[in-house]
Amino acid sequence: MDFRTINPTDLWVGVFYVKKINNIGRKMSVVIVVGAQWGDEGKGKVVDLLSGESDIVARYQGGANAGHTINLKGEQFIFHHIPSGILSPNTVCVIGNGVVIDPYGLMEEIELLNKKGIDVTGRLYISHKAHLIMPYHKLLDKVLEEDQGDGKIGTTLRGIGPAYADKYSRIGIRIVDLLDRDSFREKLRKNIKEKNRLLKTIYNAEELDEDKIINEYVEFDKKIDEFVKDTSVFLNSAIKEGKNLLLEGAQGTLLDIDYGTYPFVTSSNPISGGACTGLGIGPTKITSVIGVMKAYTTRVGRGPFPTEFIGEFADNFRELGSEYGSTTGRPRRCGWFDAVIANYSIRVNGIDGIAITKLDVLDTLDEIKICTCYQYNNKNIIHFPSDPKILQKCEPIYETHPGWKQLTKNVRKFEDLPEKAKKYLSRISELTETKIKIVGVGSERNESIRC
Ligand code: GDP
Ligand code: IMO
Ligand code: MG
Repeated sequence: MDFRTINPTDLWVGVFYVKKINNIGRKMSVVIVVGAQWGDEGKGKVVDLLSGESDIVARYQGGANAGHTINLKGEQFIFHHIPSGILSPNTVCVIGNGVVIDPYGLMEEIELLNKKGIDVTGRLYISHKAHLIMPYHKLLDKVLEEDQGDGKIGTTLRGIGPAYADKYSRIGIRIVDLLDRDSFREKLRKNIKEKNRLLKTIYNAEELDEDKIINEYVEFDKKIDEFVKDTSVFLNSAIKEGKNLLLEGAQGTLLDIDYGTYPFVTSSNPISGGACTGLGIGPTKITSVIGVMKAYTTRVGRGPFPTEFIGEFADNFRELGSEYGSTTGRPRRCGWFDAVIANYSIRVNGIDGIAITKLDVLDTLDEIKICTCYQYNNKNIIHFPSDPKILQKCEPIYETHPGWKQLTKNVRKFEDLPEKAKKYLSRISELTETKIKIVGVGSERNESIRC
């Protein structure tokens, strides 16, 4: 080939083409994984499953109230802060600015991973803008709940509400504040003084030791220094380079501070919109949203739950699904799949693909119900009511499906599922007008069906 015959335009096209070739199979994707019910849908398992195909996994909100479980080759990991991509050795993990970090909890998670031979150095970055959970947040969470009596929310007592309250009151302490020791000390002293006054005079609770807290947080600063980054810059550069990102939500849509069953919610935005604010990524960069839903419904903590089981069946079902909280160990409330909730989640999150988890838990049931709408004042309601007083009076309307009564644990292809299980899933897809992309048939990573 005579290079003198190549004109500049061909050369430019050639360079562009080579760039493209280098990115072969690497069509940029920014996928949000969002909880579509009341949390604990199996987000950890789904994120772990998809992280092998992702360069980066980034957590965007919540804190140690989350408990994301991954079972890998018989070993169990439960992550509270650390993104569920950390077990994929080539994946970098990011804790975004929207997360509230409990230093004690985070260090424990890192040490636990180290003990299991997983080094996070160079694979974990923490936003300098993330807020810190302070000991007074945890104490306040406890006394506030105790003070509420019957009206309590049933929080995880991880200090989440008080930490986000300080963030929005503009008195929160951020990772970046740790870097300037003098102003950190000053801010902390001011906050502790104020919180001690509150704890002592209103709640008659123990006061906090200012120096002890300062010393402990300075120690934490030394340990996390290597992980701190401007993660928005990092993530947006990765997007420009054509990398694949997975954005991991905590909690679930019905626990969202704006869209959940307020006041029985958490204090952040688990919905997909929270991924943009919690990571510093613009909405135009999001390529898809996967909504994770159990094949039934669960909830932990107080608040309305239209399809909730009661009595002996509720207890038996809880054992069948091992439905106990990953963070607090509390028994989870269980109920039938609720298509009104599923459709609500699809709407507020822009979900374009569903991951159904725990199908295997239904394997032994004679019949399985789906709530297709609610009845209120003799009218059918298909849109999840925003007024809690109306929701309380809504009666779920069910359709009944025959159980498949076969084990699904070893199935790896959709077409190999029992006919009745396929029909059940197809009905969910039909009612939600959304494609099911993943089906979980067990807690291990490989106990999954890609559709
Ligand atoms: P997350 O908070 O959404 O990550 O969910 P949790 O980890 O709190 O709770 C989900 C539970 O279900 C965990 O114990 C998982 O190991 C388990 N799990 C996830 N997917 C499946 C599945 O398809 N089948 C079964 N049997 N268990 C699953
Ligand atoms: P993951 O990420 C399920 C619930 C609590 C309580 C309410 C408020 O594992 O799905 P908080 O401590 O946040 O102030 O509690 O929210 N809750 C969860 N329920 N899964 C979670 O996280 C949860 N995080 C908080 O039980 O009802
Ligand atoms: Mg959980």
